[in-house]
Amino acid sequence: MSDAEQPKPEGERRNFYGRVHGKTLRASQKQYLAEDLGRVTLQGVTVQDNPGRARLDPAALFGGRPVWLEIGFGGGEHLVHMAARYPEVGLIGCEPFVNGVAMLLGKIRAAGADNLRIHPGDVRDLFDVLPDASIAKAFLNYPDPWPKARHHRRRFVTPGYLSALARVLQPGAEFRVATDIPDYVRQTLEEVPPAGFDLIAQTGAGAAWEDWLSTRYEQKALREGRDPHYLTFRRQG
Ligand SMILES: C[S@@+](CC[C@H](N)C(=O)[O-])C[C@H]1O[C@@H](n2cnc3c(N)ncnc32)[C@H](O)[C@@H]1O
Repeated sequence: MSDAEQPKPEGERRNFYGRVHGKTLRASQKQYLAEDLGRVTLQGVTVQDNPGRARLDPAALFGGRPVWLEIGFGGGEHLVHMAARYPEVGLIGCEPFVNGVAMLLGKIRAAGADNLRIHPGDVRDLFDVLPDASIAKAFLNYPDPWPKARHHRRRFVTPGYLSALARVLQPGAEFRVATDIPDYVRQTLEEVPPAGFDLIAQTGAGAAWEDWLSTRYEQKALREGRDPHYLTFRRQG
């Protein structure tokens, strides 16, 4: 078989539709990326780093602690807050937007959290290398809304993403979704339960989770007059 005919690893076939770069990074942010990114980055996630897609051992990375996952951490405020609040847990965050990653690194410096690792890329690459039932809780805070109907299949709450998430979550694991888009709530309620989850709670403005930390995107939504919705699911099994 020629090189061109070789089946491509998953990660090389994917389209990522979001932004990877934004405003020019400040000098301090460039410094965080240069000095700290290597230390907090999970090894063995990208296709280049792990072409055979060998599975990671996330619990071992954190000395056997339960491991939680935040998908699309943005500027990282919620991720760092959770890491500081739950030192008995290991946190993994995914975010392909370089400016967000740089902001997170600044927050890690300030907070000194050491129970936190990231994949600075697409969560699907991480799903490929996580073992079944290896994650004890997952957060999806203000996922990209993709408002146009023809783009709804790019949303996270679609079967491809959800089946991968369901596989890596432990039975009974909590899956939290926050969004300000009513149609995203509709699609979440339609698509998450068939992927193997039970809806546990659905609340709105002023009634977030007890340990919630409002994110940058939520603050923007509130300023623009949109209401938060908080959905809690539990992985069946
Ligand atoms: C609307 S922003 C919200 C950011 C943050 N959670 C907040 O609440 O402020 C959605 C984020 O999801 C990230 N994202 C989109 N697709 C992703 C993927 N496949 N894997 C990981 N993160 C992704 C985007 O880069 C973006 O930063």
